[in-house]
Amino acid sequence: PAARAALGARAKALLAARGAVLVAHYYVEPELQDLALATGGIVADSLEMARFGRDHAAQELVVAGVRFMGESAKILSPHKTVRMPELEATCSLDLACPPDDFAAFCDAHPDRTVVVYANTSAAVKARADWMVTSSCALGIVEHLKAQGRKILWAPDRHLGRYIQQTTGADMLLWQGECIVHDEFKGLELELLKAEHPQARVLVHPESPSAVVALADVVGSTSQLLKAVTDEPTGTFIVATDNGLLHRMRQLAPQAVLMEAPTAGNGATCKSCAHCPWMAMNGLQALVDCLERQTGEIQVPEPVRGQALGCIERMLAFVA
Ligand code: 13P
Ligand code: SF4
Repeated sequence: PAARAALGARAKALLAARGAVLVAHYYVEPELQDLALATGGIVADSLEMARFGRDHAAQELVVAGVRFMGESAKILSPHKTVRMPELEATCSLDLACPPDDFAAFCDAHPDRTVVVYANTSAAVKARADWMVTSSCALGIVEHLKAQGRKILWAPDRHLGRYIQQTTGADMLLWQGECIVHDEFKGLELELLKAEHPQARVLVHPESPSAVVALADVVGSTSQLLKAVTDEPTGTFIVATDNGLLHRMRQLAPQAVLMEAPTAGNGATCKSCAHCPWMAMNGLQALVDCLERQTGEIQVPEPVRGQALGCIERMLAFVA
């Protein structure tokens, strides 16, 4: 513990010396979440991270999360230094959507408005009309549907299907998935729910349809957190990365929180409710990147400029 405290103090001093602000996602290590909040940074969902980084006066952003979050920050603030503790921290959705294949898919369906999830590379965003995150995807697709648009959606098939079913929009879906949320199991969740009939089930919409069908609340990480703080003595079963439980416990210490089941019959799962790429963001990696001035995100032109439009459209919509 003394060594951890010393490392935390070192990270704090380095952030202060560089005038840098830490922008962390709810899924990263509790130490990093706490450090972000203690130093004037933020712990947030992907939409709030993008907005915070854009609006903060600091000229250096340290993004603790996965690559697309650092890229979004850089696309929005090209003149700021954007650093990540671990540049190799990617996302299965981003990996499942290679830019060339995606461009061919778009070329084959020129009549469709291209809507991409935030969890994609800058090159994929450069081809999109709209970017969305899980907290605003429903509203944006409703808006497009009202305009009579047909949609090409990528890359999360579960989120796409959820939005399609909820809005009734005409959506053609790319077939990617998040390896963390894809592991949640409907049958096992139903059994857990039966054991705890008072529990409210909170589900991130990257989860499979059998899991979403059992939800009392479907929403982004911030929206799931709000469901807990709205009912701070409640009992909840949470189907998202278990990194979020740290903030839930801090803000609602009396709430009873259970992780949703990830695999049946004792079988092991690939990710067990914690993203392996988010987990690459440790305190040591943060100190190293600040000390050595490594981990800088670059998004070369013209891709940056082309990707900016779809992000700004989303931010204007939610403003
Ligand atoms: P949100 O934080 O926008 O809910 O996204 C979840 C996610 O998968 C981040 O990797
Ligand atoms: Fe990607 Fe899933 Fe990890 Fe989020 S939790 S970064 S969607 S793999």
